[in-house]
Amino acid sequence: MADSYRKLVATSFSTDFREAAEIVTENLPRPGPHEVLIQNRYAAVNATDVNISAGRYELSSDLPIDLGVEAAGIVLAVGDNVRQLEQGDAVVTSTLGGGYREYHLVHESNAIQVPEASPQALSIVVSGLTASIALSEVGALRHDETVLVTAAAGGTGQYAVQLAKQAGNHVVGTCSTDRKVAFLNDLGCDRPINYEQEAVDDVLEEEYPDGLDLVYEAVGGSLFDVCVDHLARHGRLLSIGYVSEYKNGPETVEGERIYTSLIPASASIHGFFLPHFAEHFGPHVKKLMRMQQSGVLDIRIDDTVFEGIEAVPDAVEYLQSGESMGKVVVHFPA
Ligand SMILES: NC(=O)c1ccc[n+]([C@@H]2O[C@H](COP(=O)([O-])OP(=O)(O)OC[C@H]3O[C@@H](n4cnc5c(N)ncnc54)[C@H](OP(=O)(O)O)[C@@H]3O)[C@@H](O)[C@H]2O)c1
Repeated sequence: MADSYRKLVATSFSTDFREAAEIVTENLPRPGPHEVLIQNRYAAVNATDVNISAGRYELSSDLPIDLGVEAAGIVLAVGDNVRQLEQGDAVVTSTLGGGYREYHLVHESNAIQVPEASPQALSIVVSGLTASIALSEVGALRHDETVLVTAAAGGTGQYAVQLAKQAGNHVVGTCSTDRKVAFLNDLGCDRPINYEQEAVDDVLEEEYPDGLDLVYEAVGGSLFDVCVDHLARHGRLLSIGYVSEYKNGPETVEGERIYTSLIPASASIHGFFLPHFAEHFGPHVKKLMRMQQSGVLDIRIDDTVFEGIEAVPDAVEYLQSGESMGKVVVHFPA
């Protein structure tokens, strides 16, 4: 076993992840009685990494702060009182600061055992859970409705498309390239919209005059406004993110207050933040794992290879470019 390992920390607060991030070396810790030491194999790249590096997550925290969130890895050592896990087990973890590091010491309760430390298993713990829990526990996912997903070909969007479709809905998905349109067709999306070629507003006006019953909205900005304008009577919009405003900060807008749009349709907007739904993690992880193993869930991993801790800033910038498709991951060589 190595004596030391490397991790990525922010030494200044900035939405420019590369500028904020620095690699540091630390001694490898030994597990306490209820802890496990994990060698990370894959780390998940998330849209919100630039919010974490900007210090928007834990506002009172002092620099440096550890970066990254989810990782998949192999248990290297366990504490004396750990009973559920042993050396060699594959696990996934999701803790703030736990992703972009070669080794990770966690309390045993924070490590979920999985069949394989794969990028697919990794993507379930945040991207998959967000879609699954938001749609069913907050969005009251039904059948025979029209559901629109934004950033539909992205890490979490790909789950929302498939879960909404498999529940028996008509699914509309927005994206920015024809390659993503083809991917969305593969996933069963009924009406992919490449917003670089078609105005989402026009498509909804012409093809969906009865409006949208449920929206899984992750982009924000003018796309959020269009979605609100097209909510059906009793329509529900899940606001899970606003990636279009992460780099430069929230835009200030002038206009009527949102109730002038919502009340005439008896429509609603629900904010959603995954850590507030921890009590639902267990059953939803099991459901998504089952779906993946039985082949009914196609979890796509972006095929651009990012190798080692040095590649993390490249991977974060790649996701922010809007070009990625499926889940972006960084591989840590064993
Ligand atoms: N609330 C929660 O608990 C929670 C949990 C996980 C994720 N999220 C949110 O879900 C959203 C997606 O996250 P993700 O990690 O899965 O990322 P992702 O969807 O894999 O990547 C982001 C995608 O957003 C789209 N996008 C549109 N405008 C963009 C812009 N100006 N800059 C960058 N991307 C833009 C791009 O797809 P197109 O170009 O095809 O539109 C891009 O591929 C984010 O808003 C994130 O914060 C929220």
